Amino acid sequence: MNFSLDHFDKYVDRTQTWSIKWDPDYMIERFGTADFLPFNHAEMDFECPKPIIDAIRQRSDHGIYGYTLVKSDYYDSVIRWYQHRHGIKFSKEEILYSTGVVFSLRNVIQFFTNIGDKILIFPPIYRPLAEAATDQARKLIMVPLRLKEGTYQMDFDQIEYAFQTHSIKLVILCNPHNPVGRVWTRSELQRLGDLCLNYNVMIVSDEIHCDILSQGYHYSSIASISPELGLKTIMLSSMTKTFNTSGLKIANIFIKNPEIRIPFFRFFDKKFIYAPNVFGILGMQAAYNHCAQWVDLLVQYLDDNFRFVQEYLTKHEMNIDLIQREGTPLIWLDFRKIPLAPDQIFQYLIKKAHIIPYDGRDFTANGEGFQRLSIGYPRKILKEGLDRIRKAIQLL
Ligand SMILES: Cc1ncc(COP(=O)(O)O)c(C=O)c1O
Repeated sequence: MNFSLDHFDKYVDRTQTWSIKWDPDYMIERFGTADFLPFNHAEMDFECPKPIIDAIRQRSDHGIYGYTLVKSDYYDSVIRWYQHRHGIKFSKEEILYSTGVVFSLRNVIQFFTNIGDKILIFPPIYRPLAEAATDQARKLIMVPLRLKEGTYQMDFDQIEYAFQTHSIKLVILCNPHNPVGRVWTRSELQRLGDLCLNYNVMIVSDEIHCDILSQGYHYSSIASISPELGLKTIMLSSMTKTFNTSGLKIANIFIKNPEIRIPFFRFFDKKFIYAPNVFGILGMQAAYNHCAQWVDLLVQYLDDNFRFVQEYLTKHEMNIDLIQREGTPLIWLDFRKIPLAPDQIFQYLIKKAHIIPYDGRDFTANGEGFQRLSIGYPRKILKEGLDRIRKAIQLL
């Protein structure tokens, strides 16, 4: 099927679809009115590619949505996608479907660690990843990412120090990293991986944003850096961010090492999701089998959106620094030069700009003074959002 870049300019009204971002009643409940532009969720406003819509429509026309098998076609499409798009090889036995990445992470933590165990994480980080540990009474050891010359980096000395001083059981990695948009390089992953191997620490890597890469950046999974790291890693991912299908509630857990995979899969089986959402399974297959070119266009459009934001901020001298984005549909904006206290920025943008950002302070730690916005919008919506921010800042 031929896709076109115009697809991403199309505005689709989502207000009457019970969208967590756009539902007017929910907006009124939280902010008092329904006239906000929401840029807060790691979601996009693009219609999904037609093959996904067709697959779901065809199945929904059948009229019976009973318990559904996951057959080898499903695994074949997942395997082919990772092999062709990312050069990563998995076999069918190494893949387990799930209903979501965060749900999977919670189960990994429950199974592989005990109450009170220490888990290392790199803030600022998408908070549900940290809460997957703290909600289950595990202790977070935080090694903040360092902002150096406009880009975030891991602090390897501090990671090693944490491994030496705490008995860390698990590292939670996010690659590409939400919210700062880094795509970790092979050498960074190798360095982190070597430390994990030296100190015998397992890694769980959330790679849900792996398909959305800015031009010139290459994604490697830590599971594929070396056979030794492959055995030490649990990789979590899904098609839901790439194709804007979070409501389909489907994800995959990839584990190469049979010694940890077999007992974990047995444990996970007891969670009783043996027959998953029929539309999730079909949506994933259609996406991976027929929509690679759509993703090529999506990443091009998102890069153009990123450049648009960059040029807009420069042209209007807005004093907001944009962190270089390497992947994800998100941007991470530094508001620290704006004359507002870090705890006032979010509320100011709500009250005066009528846009909804994601407050940097909500990314576990180390996000003060920053706001995260999704740029997965038709450009005219993005421009409207930037216009609103500019006008609000001019009032200061
Ligand atoms: C890094 C990351 N992981 C996980 C999720 C949520 O995934 P799921 O809906 O599959 O739990 C998000 C959603 O924003 C995310 O950004």
